[in-house]
Amino acid sequence: MIIDGKQVAADVRADVAKKVSELKSKGINPCLAVILVGENPASVSYVTGKQKALAEVGMVDRSVHLPESTSEEDLLKLIDELNNDDSVHGILVQLPLPKHINEEKVIMAINPKKDVDGFHPVNVGNLVIGRPAPLPCTPHGIIVLLEKAGVKTSGAHAVVIGRSNIVGKPVSLLLARKETNCTVTMCHTGTKNMAEIVKQADIIIAAAGRPNTVTADMVKEGAVVIDVGVNRIPDETKKNGFRLVGDVDFDAIKDKASFITPVPGGVGPMTIAMLMQNTLEAASND
Ligand code: GUN
Repeated sequence: MIIDGKQVAADVRADVAKKVSELKSKGINPCLAVILVGENPASVSYVTGKQKALAEVGMVDRSVHLPESTSEEDLLKLIDELNNDDSVHGILVQLPLPKHINEEKVIMAINPKKDVDGFHPVNVGNLVIGRPAPLPCTPHGIIVLLEKAGVKTSGAHAVVIGRSNIVGKPVSLLLARKETNCTVTMCHTGTKNMAEIVKQADIIIAAAGRPNTVTADMVKEGAVVIDVGVNRIPDETKKNGFRLVGDVDFDAIKDKASFITPVPGGVGPMTIAMLMQNTLEAASND
């Protein structure tokens, strides 16, 4: 079965929209500032998607698009202004940033209460020890997809491929929480015999950022396959000159997996939907 992330994300946004209108009737106008520096095509496209979702759920969009040449100092100044602006509930700086800006410094400058990505070390730490924290959007979206698809996670062996701060590490933590109750193995570029490990998985989370990382011979019959990859492949038949593929060989795996997410239309829309939910929560906690 193909998991329809577009539909699940639309349901989450509809629920958020309802709660936004309730907050508005109490005089709170949920507001997100998305900061984009430069013109990275993938980032421009993600930010456009976030702005579209903000409009759909009825939130205030305070997004700022800065030139590539923006200095670290100016970016930090903008974050400081937004931190001190009570009408702004969430701040998201789209990553990656241009090379002359220190990403870690920028993430640490965001007020943890407005950190709707859940990337600030205080929020990461709270997540690790089970204290309330905004859940990182993509990992949380994956958990919601598993839930909505009715996947039995308790006791399942989940193999995560990738150890990034944005996906691999946090999704491993979420899968291992009592609520989800998976046994988690985290694979990465240093992993020996990856195929053998992945073959043992009841649930595969592919977040390597490389097409065909997971091939059919690595997938156990009936496994659940969640594809987090968003890779641009040159394609002359397309208007924009590329097509998107994930990290798994979808066509070869779709009949072997019990559930699989497509790319596009799987995890991607969930990331944005969970961002709307985190912004709503930041505004509710105000
Ligand atoms: N770049 C890729 N994914 C993300 C994300 O979830 N948040 C931010 N801020 N940047 C990203």
